[in-house]
Amino acid sequence: MEYDNPLPTWWLYLLYLTVAFSFVYLILYPGILPNGGFLKWSQIGQYESEVSRANERYAPLMDAYAKSSPTDLANNQKAMKTAARLFSQSCAVCHGSDAGGTPGIPNLTDSDWIYGDDLDSVLASIVDGRMGVMPGWESFLGGREAVADVANYVLQISGGEFDAQSAGRGEAQYKIICASCHGIDGAGNRQLGGMNLTDDVWVHGSSLQEISDVIGSGVTNEMPAHKDILGESKSRLLAVYVKNLSK
Ligand code: HEC
Ligand code: HEC
Repeated sequence: MEYDNPLPTWWLYLLYLTVAFSFVYLILYPGILPNGGFLKWSQIGQYESEVSRANERYAPLMDAYAKSSPTDLANNQKAMKTAARLFSQSCAVCHGSDAGGTPGIPNLTDSDWIYGDDLDSVLASIVDGRMGVMPGWESFLGGREAVADVANYVLQISGGEFDAQSAGRGEAQYKIICASCHGIDGAGNRQLGGMNLTDDVWVHGSSLQEISDVIGSGVTNEMPAHKDILGESKSRLLAVYVKNLSK
């Protein structure tokens, strides 16, 4: 036998309530009305208002940091904590969460700097970005073997293991082609971003194979400019932080 039990009243009112709620919701939020509903709500709008509220809230703090000397900043634990958080948000994707670098991206914790170890150079790298460009030399050198000769010479000046005969053949080529950007002694050229090749610190790998690949095919390595993303005072704070890491 089938019973015809009425629904419990509380249950029925709950149903009416949810129906009413969904109509109100659809009108207020993106739903039936165009352009984000009555409240004009959007994810990007919410994000932007949160960012501007945060900027407003932290502006006095950032202003104070902007007026501090680099030494004071480096000794200010709170400032360095802020910087560490900024670093993990904006920089860690490329440089690694410990700033130790990833293949192709420089380590920021060592004392080896491509573009100089003074605060202004570090700040310039962050604010304006950098573009390291080295053309490939395989066809100019005349093939893979000639590339390996120069690579062996590079290993020789960097203090690595090398084939003496091959390096001997590569030396002359190095002095003709490479010295203009890497220096006649291999110590590098900071204006051109030509890395120091004598310090056994490698961005693109230390094996004969990897060094040959760089020499043969060249590299283009971009550090993006952060002035629009971070602004001046955050960039400066990060520059102090990064410089401090390398000690
Ligand atoms: C998209 C990847 C990427 C991001 C994000 C990035 N960097 Fe870099 N950074 C690079 C690359 C690549 C280089 C090397 C550029 C070159 O060789 O010319 C570099 C170089 C640098 C240098 C110069 C190092 C030297 O030896 O002179 C500094 C300083 C630096 N980055 C700091 C930062 C900071 C601080 C942040 C965060 C605000 C950041 N980077 C975010 C990729 C990145
Ligand atoms: C036009 C300037 C220029 C010339 C000429 C040049 N290089 Fe470079 N080289 C660069 C730059 C800039 C970089 C850094 C690329 C980057 O930012 O990642 C580089 C990087 C390298 C690296 C990678 C270093 C590392 O840490 O991984 C090696 C090795 C190298 N060059 C060897 C040579 C040799 C050998 C020659 C001559 C056949 C040569 N280069 C000629 C500009 C030059």
